[in-house]
Amino acid sequence: MLRPVSDSFDPAGYPDLLVGMGSPDDAAVWKLDDRRALVVTTDFFTPVVDDPYAYGAIAAANSLSDIYAMGGKPFLALNIAALPPDLPPEITSEIIRGGAEKAREAGVVIAGGHTIQDTEPKYGLVALGFVDPDRMLSKGGVRPGDRLVLTKPLGFGVTTTALKRGTADEEDVREVTEWMMRLNASAGQLASDFGLSGGTDVTGFSLLGHGYEMASASGVKLVFRYDQIPFLQNAGHYARQWTFPGGAADNRLWFGQHVSFSPRLEEWQQMLLFDPQTSGGLLLAVPQDRLEDFLTRAKERKVTVWVIGEAVPGQGVTVE
Ligand code: CO
Ligand code: CO
Repeated sequence: MLRPVSDSFDPAGYPDLLVGMGSPDDAAVWKLDDRRALVVTTDFFTPVVDDPYAYGAIAAANSLSDIYAMGGKPFLALNIAALPPDLPPEITSEIIRGGAEKAREAGVVIAGGHTIQDTEPKYGLVALGFVDPDRMLSKGGVRPGDRLVLTKPLGFGVTTTALKRGTADEEDVREVTEWMMRLNASAGQLASDFGLSGGTDVTGFSLLGHGYEMASASGVKLVFRYDQIPFLQNAGHYARQWTFPGGAADNRLWFGQHVSFSPRLEEWQQMLLFDPQTSGGLLLAVPQDRLEDFLTRAKERKVTVWVIGEAVPGQGVTVE
């Protein structure tokens, strides 16, 4: 995610900067020529699982995701790491190996990086990719009538928080780890082949936060249908125990005013939609008349997709 840090930046001075701090999109985009633009992004975070190899792989998949979320294809990356000096070297090398193997799976070479010392481990990538400027996905590309498609289930935040508190089932940890390690590459490729214009990845700001960003950037209202939203198998169980990470409450505080819920939804159900997702799926807007074709193609390419709502005229987000 890229967030504005200052209002003093003047995008008019950089005509080749197609996407910068002035827009809420997932990566910066710099136009090279009419057919090619460079996509640049970075992300890093503290461990979300106990297994160092999986942690490295998840951090890498998450960093690369912002390039897929722009409709791009990553090709080059650098490691960024902050590691405690007393961390056993075999743990460090497992984190780095997890990242490197995930990058290789994506067709990305890690060409270097930088490590500093810190008390709590942090790891991620600086990633570069290419995108065709005419086939870019953005949060502002959603049109009324588009169907909203999600490519990974929700519940990563509650499940990993249960793991941190020692209350998670081993099976649930395996499930969430597998999903977080999964690249958004084939989903992004499908979106790009279809020439979709509206898309993002669902990460720290949750489905509703990122959904609201799309609604506001596109000038539409997003309607989600709760019963069609996919969740990890025990996300509801952990939500009822209120095992939410702090970010869920922050998301509700920031975005709650823009969301209206069906009164039949209980508080834990509403909160699950504010649950931060690490390395979550893509949220894509598919024109209604192309949905069937899109779903067929997704099945052929083994891209998991759920249709969870639609865009309509208006503003904000509604959950029915
Ligand atoms: Co990000
Ligand atoms: Co993102």
